[in-house]
Amino acid sequence: MSSPTRVLVTGAAGQVGVDLVDTLSGVTPLGGDPAFEPDGRSVDRDEFEVLALSHHDLDITDRDAVMKCVRGSRPDVIVHLAAYTAVDRAEVDADACYAVNATGTESLSLAAHDVGAHLIAISTDYVFDGNKGSAYVEEDSANPLNVYGASKRAAELLCAGDDTIVRTSWVMGVRGKNVLHVIAQRALSGETVRFVDDQTGTVTLASDLARALVTMVRERPGGLWHVANAGTTTWFEVAQFAGSVLGRDEGFATPISTDDLDPAPLARRPIRSDLSTKKWESRRWTAMAPWRSGVIRLLEARALGGGPTS
Ligand SMILES: NC(=O)c1ccc[n+]([C@@H]2O[C@H](COP(=O)([O-])OP(=O)(O)OC[C@H]3O[C@@H](n4cnc5c(N)ncnc54)[C@H](OP(=O)(O)O)[C@@H]3O)[C@@H](O)[C@H]2O)c1
Repeated sequence: MSSPTRVLVTGAAGQVGVDLVDTLSGVTPLGGDPAFEPDGRSVDRDEFEVLALSHHDLDITDRDAVMKCVRGSRPDVIVHLAAYTAVDRAEVDADACYAVNATGTESLSLAAHDVGAHLIAISTDYVFDGNKGSAYVEEDSANPLNVYGASKRAAELLCAGDDTIVRTSWVMGVRGKNVLHVIAQRALSGETVRFVDDQTGTVTLASDLARALVTMVRERPGGLWHVANAGTTTWFEVAQFAGSVLGRDEGFATPISTDDLDPAPLARRPIRSDLSTKKWESRRWTAMAPWRSGVIRLLEARALGGGPTS
């Protein structure tokens, strides 16, 4: 029997991290679809040996600590999820954001190469300015509008050419802090919500992304990849749909424009940043489910006791 693939995961306590650690351990995460096997293979419990590192275990802004940790653990693959993800706060905290997202990612790439491991780093649709008018493919030019997006683009450029970079967008996990929990809480307590309907993007379930990342861990393709659930939407549409699943009528969600947000968000966001997953599908990997079925799965898992970790 072959020995397990050693996988080091940074950001393992984040919303994608908890689902990825479950998935690599052969467990379907809360809200996950056990039938989603993009490469047609199930995950055996002894296929991977997982080293799951939270912020507490490893601060990726400390390059010496990153090198020591990677040299000591000798992974085959590093899935790098740790990130500064507070998009608005980053506008007034750019140095800290760059230290984690850009310099931290560079450290992981250098350390991976030092021990002959493959790096899979996660990036974002916010590397784009939203002006294309149709779904973004991997070859499109990046032009971030905000500090977070710029720091993630800097990270992409600091990675080595043979690293794998997975861009994803609008991530929602049962155990993460995200917009869907806010929508569900308000829907269930009889309140109403207002959401913008002039920003279009692609929702991604953390559990589906986690399973897609297992395929990347196995295949180690290198280069840029867009991974997201199928279909484009707006936050207003997500709220309206989630409200209807939870029994609320059309009055639950009101559409507003970005200019109506009060207070105005610190960070500019792209008007249209949906990600084309044609490259993923060209490898004959199964497309991820339509976002509506993912939202139903998340709401069901939430009703069964799943919820934000804090
Ligand atoms: N969430 C989205 O909508 C979205 C969209 C596109 C791309 N992405 C990308 O997807 C990846 C995973 O995101 P996520 O949603 O799982 O984010 P998340 O829930 O915010 O998790 C990020 C994790 O990184 C940790 N972290 C922050 N600074 C660190 C440091 N200096 N050293 C080590 N760990 C640190 C955080 O720990 P603490 O909380 O303890 O600081 C947190 O557990 C990130 O690369 C993110 O940029 C996310």
